[in-house]
Amino acid sequence: MKWKHSRRYFELQFVYGIKMHAIILAGGKGTRLLPLTEELPKPLIPVAGMPMVAHVMNALIEAGVTDLTFAVSWDTYMPIKACFSHKYKDIVINYSIEDYPLGSAGAIGKACELNRPTQSFFVVNADVITSSSLADMRSVHDSLNTPDPLVSILLHESEMTGDFGIVELGTGRKVQKFLEKPASGTTSSKMINAGIWIFSERVIDRLPTDNFARVEETLFPDLVKDEGGLVGITDDGAYWADLGTPEALLAGARYMRHSTKPLIHESAVIEVDAEISNSEIGAGTTVSSSTIISNSLIWDSVTVGSNAKIYDSIIGNNVIIDENARISRAVIGPYAQVSAEFYVRDRAMKSEKRNRN
Ligand code: GDD
Ligand code: MG
Repeated sequence: MKWKHSRRYFELQFVYGIKMHAIILAGGKGTRLLPLTEELPKPLIPVAGMPMVAHVMNALIEAGVTDLTFAVSWDTYMPIKACFSHKYKDIVINYSIEDYPLGSAGAIGKACELNRPTQSFFVVNADVITSSSLADMRSVHDSLNTPDPLVSILLHESEMTGDFGIVELGTGRKVQKFLEKPASGTTSSKMINAGIWIFSERVIDRLPTDNFARVEETLFPDLVKDEGGLVGITDDGAYWADLGTPEALLAGARYMRHSTKPLIHESAVIEVDAEISNSEIGAGTTVSSSTIISNSLIWDSVTVGSNAKIYDSIIGNNVIIDENARISRAVIGPYAQVSAEFYVRDRAMKSEKRNRN
Protein backbone atom coordinates (compact mmCIF):
# COMPACT_ATOMS: atom_id res chain seq x y z
CA MET A 1 0.00 0.00 0.00
CA LYS A 2 1.29 3.44 -0.91
CA TRP A 3 0.54 6.41 1.33
CA LYS A 4 1.18 9.90 0.07
CA HIS A 5 0.50 12.13 3.04
CA SER A 6 0.90 11.70 6.73
CA ARG A 7 -2.73 12.78 7.37
CA ARG A 8 -3.75 9.86 5.19
CA TYR A 9 -1.72 7.59 7.48
CA PHE A 10 -3.60 8.71 10.50
CA GLU A 11 -6.90 8.07 8.70
CA LEU A 12 -5.79 4.61 7.63
CA GLN A 13 -4.44 3.80 11.06
CA PHE A 14 -7.65 4.94 12.63
CA VAL A 15 -9.98 3.11 10.24
CA TYR A 16 -7.99 -0.10 9.63
CA GLY A 17 -5.81 -0.23 12.73
CA ILE A 18 -2.70 -0.25 10.51
CA LYS A 19 0.55 -0.30 12.47
CA MET A 20 3.58 1.81 11.70
CA HIS A 21 6.78 0.42 13.16
CA ALA A 22 9.98 2.07 14.26
CA ILE A 23 13.20 0.64 15.64
CA ILE A 24 15.44 2.69 17.91
CA LEU A 25 19.06 1.56 18.09
CA ALA A 26 19.98 1.87 21.75
CA GLY A 27 22.50 -0.87 22.45
CA GLY A 28 25.76 1.07 22.17
CA LYS A 29 28.23 1.65 24.98
CA GLY A 30 28.28 5.46 24.87
CA THR A 31 32.06 5.45 25.32
CA ARG A 32 32.53 9.07 24.24
CA LEU A 33 30.36 10.12 27.19
CA LEU A 34 32.13 8.08 29.85
CA PRO A 35 32.04 8.21 32.85
CA LEU A 36 28.47 9.58 32.56
CA THR A 37 27.32 6.47 30.71
CA GLU A 38 28.75 4.02 33.27
CA GLU A 39 25.30 3.61 34.82
CA LEU A 40 22.93 5.66 32.73
CA PRO A 41 22.72 4.59 29.07
CA LYS A 42 23.24 7.44 26.61
CA PRO A 43 19.57 7.44 25.43
CA LEU A 44 18.41 8.25 28.97
CA ILE A 45 20.72 11.22 29.55
CA PRO A 46 18.51 14.20 30.43
CA VAL A 47 18.20 16.81 27.70
CA ALA A 48 15.80 19.73 28.15
CA GLY A 49 14.07 17.98 31.03
CA MET A 50 13.49 14.56 29.46
CA PRO A 51 15.54 11.55 28.40
CA MET A 52 17.45 12.36 25.22
CA VAL A 53 15.69 9.59 23.27
CA ALA A 54 12.22 10.93 24.18
CA HIS A 55 12.79 13.80 21.73
CA VAL A 56 13.15 11.44 18.77
CA MET A 57 10.30 9.27 20.12
CA ASN A 58 8.04 12.33 20.06
CA ALA A 59 9.11 13.06 16.47
CA LEU A 60 8.30 9.45 15.50
CA ILE A 61 4.87 9.65 17.14
CA GLU A 62 4.15 12.85 15.20
CA ALA A 63 5.02 10.92 12.04
CA GLY A 64 2.38 8.29 12.89
CA VAL A 65 4.47 5.54 14.51
CA THR A 66 2.36 3.18 16.61
CA ASP A 67 4.80 0.36 17.47
CA LEU A 68 8.31 0.89 18.70
CA THR A 69 11.07 -1.64 19.22
CA PHE A 70 14.11 -0.67 21.25
CA ALA A 71 17.12 -2.68 20.06
CA VAL A 72 19.15 -2.94 23.26
CA SER A 73 22.02 -4.74 24.96
CA TRP A 74 21.51 -6.38 28.37
CA ASP A 75 23.23 -3.33 29.90
CA THR A 76 20.91 -0.78 28.32
CA TYR A 77 17.75 -2.95 28.53
CA MET A 78 17.16 -2.71 32.31
CA PRO A 79 17.34 1.08 32.68
CA ILE A 80 15.46 1.80 29.42
CA LYS A 81 12.71 -0.66 30.36
CA ALA A 82 12.55 0.88 33.85
CA CYS A 83 12.06 4.28 32.23
CA PHE A 84 9.49 3.50 29.51
CA SER A 85 8.17 0.00 30.27
CA HIS A 86 5.83 -1.14 27.43
CA LYS A 87 4.06 2.09 26.65
CA TYR A 88 4.98 5.69 25.88
CA LYS A 89 2.13 8.10 25.20
CA ASP A 90 -0.10 5.98 22.91
CA ILE A 91 2.56 3.72 21.43
CA VAL A 92 3.48 0.16 22.28
CA ILE A 93 7.12 -0.57 23.15
CA ASN A 94 8.94 -3.88 22.63
CA TYR A 95 12.52 -4.74 23.49
CA SER A 96 14.86 -6.73 21.27
CA ILE A 97 17.76 -7.77 23.50
CA GLU A 98 21.17 -8.64 22.09
CA ASP A 99 23.38 -11.06 24.02
CA TYR A 100 26.38 -9.49 22.29
CA PRO A 101 26.67 -6.38 20.09
CA LEU A 102 25.11 -7.02 16.68
CA GLY A 103 25.92 -3.64 15.14
CA SER A 104 23.20 -1.65 13.39
CA ALA A 105 22.46 -4.30 10.72
CA GLY A 106 22.27 -7.25 13.15
CA ALA A 107 20.29 -5.15 15.64
CA ILE A 108 17.69 -4.18 13.01
CA GLY A 109 17.51 -7.77 11.68
CA LYS A 110 16.96 -9.19 15.17
CA ALA A 111 14.36 -6.53 16.05
CA CYS A 112 12.46 -7.40 12.84
CA GLU A 113 12.55 -11.07 13.79
CA LEU A 114 10.87 -10.20 17.09
CA ASN A 115 8.27 -7.87 15.62
CA ARG A 116 8.26 -7.97 11.81
CA PRO A 117 7.01 -4.82 10.07
CA THR A 118 4.74 -5.43 7.09
CA GLN A 119 5.11 -1.88 5.77
CA SER A 120 8.13 0.38 5.52
CA PHE A 121 9.41 1.47 8.94
CA PHE A 122 11.66 4.02 10.62
CA VAL A 123 15.03 3.11 12.09
CA VAL A 124 16.71 5.77 14.21
CA ASN A 125 19.81 6.16 16.32
CA ALA A 126 18.88 6.90 19.93
CA ASP A 127 21.34 9.79 20.25
CA VAL A 128 20.17 12.15 17.50
CA ILE A 129 17.82 15.12 17.66
CA THR A 130 16.28 17.00 14.77
CA SER A 131 13.82 19.83 14.23
CA SER A 132 12.96 18.29 10.88
CA SER A 133 9.48 16.75 10.44
CA LEU A 134 9.68 12.97 10.17
CA ALA A 135 6.12 12.99 8.79
CA ASP A 136 7.46 15.07 5.88
CA MET A 137 10.36 12.63 5.44
CA ARG A 138 7.85 9.80 5.28
CA SER A 139 5.75 11.64 2.70
CA VAL A 140 8.80 12.16 0.50
CA HIS A 141 9.82 8.50 0.89
CA ASP A 142 6.33 7.37 -0.11
CA SER A 143 6.22 9.68 -3.11
CA LEU A 144 9.34 8.08 -4.63
CA ASN A 145 8.18 5.16 -6.71
CA THR A 146 10.30 4.79 -9.77
CA PRO A 147 11.44 2.41 -8.31
CA ASP A 148 10.48 2.35 -4.61
CA PRO A 149 13.56 3.09 -2.48
CA LEU A 150 14.75 0.24 -0.27
CA VAL A 151 16.18 2.70 2.24
CA SER A 152 15.82 6.47 2.59
CA ILE A 153 18.37 8.37 4.65
CA LEU A 154 17.74 11.75 6.26
CA LEU A 155 20.65 14.00 5.28
CA HIS A 156 21.94 17.03 7.14
CA GLU A 157 24.29 19.43 5.40
CA SER A 158 27.11 20.66 7.60
CA GLU A 159 30.70 21.88 7.46
CA MET A 160 31.36 19.71 10.56
CA THR A 161 31.42 16.38 8.75
CA GLY A 162 33.80 14.99 11.42
CA ASP A 163 32.90 11.58 12.69
CA PHE A 164 29.86 10.79 10.55
CA GLY A 165 28.69 8.81 7.57
CA ILE A 166 28.86 10.94 4.43
CA VAL A 167 26.66 10.63 1.38
CA GLU A 168 27.39 11.75 -2.17
CA LEU A 169 24.14 12.48 -3.97
CA GLY A 170 23.67 11.88 -7.68
CA THR A 171 20.82 13.17 -9.80
CA GLY A 172 17.48 13.34 -8.07
CA ARG A 173 17.76 11.87 -4.64
CA LYS A 174 19.81 8.84 -5.61
CA VAL A 175 22.77 8.12 -3.34
CA GLN A 176 25.85 7.63 -5.47
CA LYS A 177 28.27 6.84 -2.66
CA PHE A 178 27.94 6.06 1.05
CA LEU A 179 31.16 6.52 3.02
CA GLU A 180 31.19 5.65 6.72
CA LYS A 181 33.46 8.07 8.60
CA PRO A 182 35.80 8.70 5.68
CA ALA A 183 39.30 10.05 6.29
CA SER A 184 39.46 13.80 5.77
CA GLY A 185 40.02 14.75 2.14
CA THR A 186 38.30 11.59 0.83
CA THR A 187 35.15 13.41 -0.26
CA SER A 188 34.02 17.01 -0.62
CA SER A 189 30.40 16.16 0.19
CA LYS A 190 28.95 17.90 3.26
CA MET A 191 25.89 15.64 3.46
CA ILE A 192 25.85 13.78 6.78
CA ASN A 193 23.92 10.57 7.40
CA ALA A 194 21.64 11.86 10.17
CA GLY A 195 21.05 8.37 11.62
CA ILE A 196 17.32 8.54 10.74
CA TRP A 197 16.26 6.10 8.07
CA ILE A 198 13.16 4.59 6.49
CA PHE A 199 13.57 0.93 5.54
CA SER A 200 11.32 -0.90 3.09
CA GLU A 201 9.99 -4.19 4.47
CA ARG A 202 11.55 -5.75 1.32
CA VAL A 203 15.04 -5.20 2.74
CA ILE A 204 14.50 -7.12 6.00
CA ASP A 205 15.70 -10.45 4.61
CA ARG A 206 19.02 -8.88 3.62
CA LEU A 207 19.88 -8.25 7.28
CA PRO A 208 21.63 -10.70 9.62
CA THR A 209 19.89 -11.65 12.86
CA ASP A 210 22.69 -13.18 14.90
CA ASN A 211 26.00 -11.79 13.77
CA PHE A 212 27.67 -8.40 13.91
CA ALA A 213 27.34 -6.16 10.88
CA ARG A 214 26.74 -2.45 10.37
CA VAL A 215 24.34 -1.17 7.71
CA GLU A 216 26.73 1.74 7.22
CA GLU A 217 29.45 -0.67 6.06
CA THR A 218 27.44 -3.42 4.37
CA LEU A 219 23.84 -2.75 3.34
CA PHE A 220 24.14 0.94 2.44
CA PRO A 221 27.20 0.61 0.17
CA ASP A 222 25.53 -2.45 -1.43
CA LEU A 223 22.24 -0.65 -2.04
CA VAL A 224 24.05 2.08 -3.95
CA LYS A 225 24.49 -0.51 -6.72
CA ASP A 226 20.71 -1.14 -6.93
CA GLU A 227 18.88 1.34 -9.18
CA GLY A 228 17.25 3.83 -6.76
CA GLY A 229 17.88 1.45 -3.85
CA LEU A 230 19.31 4.09 -1.53
CA VAL A 231 17.97 7.63 -1.56
CA GLY A 232 18.78 10.76 0.43
CA ILE A 233 16.15 13.13 1.79
CA THR A 234 17.68 16.44 2.89
CA ASP A 235 16.43 18.13 6.05
CA ASP A 236 16.40 21.56 4.36
CA GLY A 237 18.54 23.33 6.95
CA ALA A 238 16.74 21.95 10.01
CA TYR A 239 18.59 21.74 13.31
CA TRP A 240 20.24 18.33 13.74
CA ALA A 241 22.77 16.97 16.21
CA ASP A 242 24.30 13.73 17.38
CA LEU A 243 24.58 14.12 21.16
CA GLY A 244 27.33 11.53 21.58
CA THR A 245 30.06 13.83 22.94
CA PRO A 246 30.07 16.26 25.92
CA GLU A 247 30.36 19.33 23.67
CA ALA A 248 27.52 18.15 21.42
CA LEU A 249 25.39 17.26 24.44
CA LEU A 250 25.76 20.75 25.93
CA ALA A 251 25.01 22.44 22.59
CA GLY A 252 22.10 20.12 21.77
CA ALA A 253 20.50 20.58 25.20
CA ARG A 254 20.89 24.36 24.82
CA TYR A 255 19.03 24.17 21.51
CA MET A 256 16.29 21.88 22.83
CA ARG A 257 15.56 24.16 25.81
CA HIS A 258 14.71 26.91 23.30
CA SER A 259 15.51 29.48 25.96
CA THR A 260 18.44 30.91 27.89
CA LYS A 261 16.36 30.59 31.05
CA PRO A 262 17.69 27.76 33.20
CA LEU A 263 15.57 24.63 33.51
CA ILE A 264 15.38 23.82 37.19
CA HIS A 265 13.62 20.74 38.55
CA GLU A 266 10.89 21.62 41.05
CA SER A 267 12.56 19.57 43.77
CA ALA A 268 15.94 21.31 43.43
CA VAL A 269 16.86 23.76 46.19
CA ILE A 270 18.65 26.89 44.97
CA GLU A 271 19.91 29.72 47.18
CA VAL A 272 18.53 33.08 46.05
CA ASP A 273 21.90 34.62 45.26
CA ALA A 274 23.12 31.72 43.10
CA GLU A 275 23.59 32.82 39.47
CA ILE A 276 22.38 30.16 37.07
CA SER A 277 22.25 30.75 33.32
CA ASN A 278 21.76 28.54 30.27
CA SER A 279 21.78 25.39 32.39
CA GLU A 280 19.71 22.47 33.67
CA ILE A 281 19.46 21.49 37.31
CA GLY A 282 18.11 18.04 38.15
CA ALA A 283 15.85 16.61 40.85
CA GLY A 284 16.97 16.86 44.46
CA THR A 285 20.06 18.95 43.63
CA THR A 286 21.05 21.68 46.06
CA VAL A 287 22.95 24.82 45.05
CA SER A 288 24.43 26.96 47.82
CA SER A 289 24.93 30.71 47.95
CA SER A 290 27.20 32.81 45.70
CA THR A 291 27.52 29.95 43.22
CA ILE A 292 27.81 30.57 39.48
CA ILE A 293 26.57 27.92 37.04
CA SER A 294 26.74 28.70 33.34
CA ASN A 295 26.08 26.56 30.24
CA SER A 296 26.10 23.34 32.26
CA LEU A 297 24.02 20.25 32.88
CA ILE A 298 23.78 19.36 36.57
CA TRP A 299 22.02 16.04 37.05
CA ASP A 300 20.08 14.70 40.04
CA SER A 301 20.97 14.79 43.75
CA VAL A 302 24.10 16.88 43.23
CA THR A 303 25.37 19.06 46.08
CA VAL A 304 27.02 22.31 45.01
CA GLY A 305 28.81 24.13 47.84
CA SER A 306 28.92 27.88 48.30
CA ASN A 307 30.93 30.08 45.95
CA ALA A 308 31.56 27.19 43.53
CA LYS A 309 31.87 28.10 39.83
CA ILE A 310 30.76 25.70 37.10
CA TYR A 311 31.16 26.58 33.43
CA ASP A 312 30.46 24.50 30.27
CA SER A 313 30.38 21.23 32.22
CA ILE A 314 28.27 18.14 32.83
CA ILE A 315 27.91 16.92 36.41
CA GLY A 316 26.59 13.37 36.94
CA ASN A 317 24.14 12.16 39.59
CA ASN A 318 25.11 12.35 43.29
CA VAL A 319 28.28 14.39 42.77
CA ILE A 320 29.47 16.53 45.66
CA ILE A 321 31.13 19.83 44.77
CA ASP A 322 32.65 21.51 47.78
CA GLU A 323 32.80 25.25 48.40
CA ASN A 324 35.02 27.43 46.20
CA ALA A 325 35.64 24.59 43.72
CA ARG A 326 35.93 25.63 40.09
CA ILE A 327 34.91 23.41 37.19
CA SER A 328 35.36 24.39 33.57
CA ARG A 329 34.74 22.34 30.36
CA ALA A 330 34.72 19.16 32.44
CA VAL A 331 32.66 16.01 32.86
CA ILE A 332 32.26 14.77 36.43
CA GLY A 333 31.21 11.13 36.84
CA PRO A 334 28.45 10.04 39.23
CA TYR A 335 29.32 10.05 42.95
CA ALA A 336 32.62 11.87 42.44
CA GLN A 337 33.65 14.55 44.90
CA VAL A 338 35.35 17.77 43.89
CA SER A 339 37.16 19.07 46.94
CA ALA A 340 37.04 22.63 48.24
CA GLU A 341 39.21 25.09 46.25
CA PHE A 342 39.91 22.41 43.62
CA TYR A 343 40.07 23.44 39.93
CA VAL A 344 38.94 20.85 37.38
CA ARG A 345 39.44 21.96 33.82
CA ASP A 346 39.18 20.30 30.38
CA ARG A 347 38.92 16.78 31.69
CA ALA A 348 36.63 13.93 32.68
CA MET A 349 36.69 13.04 36.37
CA LYS A 350 35.93 9.40 37.14
CA SER A 351 32.97 8.09 39.14
CA GLU A 352 33.73 7.41 42.78
CA LYS A 353 32.28 4.02 43.57
CA ARG A 354 33.48 4.16 47.20
CA ASN A 355 31.08 7.03 47.94
CA ARG A 356 28.07 4.88 47.20
CA ASN A 357 25.78 3.34 49.78
N1 GDD B 1 21.14 -2.40 19.40
C1 GDD B 1 22.34 -1.92 19.14
N2 GDD B 1 23.38 -2.81 18.94
N3 GDD B 1 22.53 -0.59 19.10
C2 GDD B 1 23.78 -0.13 18.84
C3 GDD B 1 24.87 -0.99 18.63
C4 GDD B 1 24.65 -2.40 18.68
O1 GDD B 1 25.55 -3.23 18.50
N4 GDD B 1 25.98 -0.21 18.42
C5 GDD B 1 25.56 1.08 18.49
N5 GDD B 1 24.23 1.12 18.75
C6 GDD B 1 23.36 2.31 18.88
C7 GDD B 1 23.89 3.35 19.85
O2 GDD B 1 23.35 3.14 21.14
C8 GDD B 1 23.36 4.66 19.22
O3 GDD B 1 22.08 5.00 19.70
C9 GDD B 1 23.27 4.33 17.74
O4 GDD B 1 23.32 2.92 17.61
C10 GDD B 1 24.42 4.96 16.94
O5 GDD B 1 25.64 4.55 17.50
P1 GDD B 1 26.84 5.57 17.69
O6 GDD B 1 27.95 4.85 18.32
O7 GDD B 1 26.35 6.82 18.32
O8 GDD B 1 27.22 5.84 16.16
P2 GDD B 1 27.95 7.09 15.55
O9 GDD B 1 27.34 8.35 16.04
O10 GDD B 1 29.40 6.93 15.75
O11 GDD B 1 27.65 6.92 13.97
C11 GDD B 1 26.34 6.65 13.50
O12 GDD B 1 25.48 7.78 13.63
C12 GDD B 1 25.87 8.95 12.84
C13 GDD B 1 24.77 10.00 13.03
O13 GDD B 1 24.60 10.32 14.34
C14 GDD B 1 26.49 6.25 12.04
O14 GDD B 1 25.22 5.82 11.58
C15 GDD B 1 26.98 7.44 11.19
O15 GDD B 1 27.00 7.07 9.81
C16 GDD B 1 26.01 8.61 11.35
O16 GDD B 1 26.48 9.75 10.62
MG1 MG C 1 26.09 8.81 17.64
